[in-house]
Amino acid sequence: MFRIEIQGHNFAFDCGPDNNVLLASRAAGGRILPLGCRGGGCGVCRVRILSGSAQLKPMSRAHVSVQEEGQGYALACRVYPLSDICMEPAAAKARAVKLDPKPIAERK
Ligand code: FES
Repeated sequence: MFRIEIQGHNFAFDCGPDNNVLLASRAAGGRILPLGCRGGGCGVCRVRILSGSAQLKPMSRAHVSVQEEGQGYALACRVYPLSDICMEPAAAKARAVKLDPKPIAERK
């Protein structure tokens, strides 16, 4: 069993290596991390792991790119701890929408 701390929220809970930190947080009464699809698809449970190690199961690259994963970002529902972990919520970033400046009639 490992200790998982959510930095800045004065909240910590235990999580075993066979459980993901999102569901363990909920089981401990935590409501800091939003609960969504629970399968790595919706991105609402995005966090940044500040210390510790974990096994990361497949997750949507629309919400955590490979580069971001290297910076510690992950989806909590896909994080299975391998040590004590300190993490913080990391809400999904606003996605820039590239608009075609041409009038609709001129678009291909
Ligand atoms: S709850 Fe949907 S990605 Fe984690």
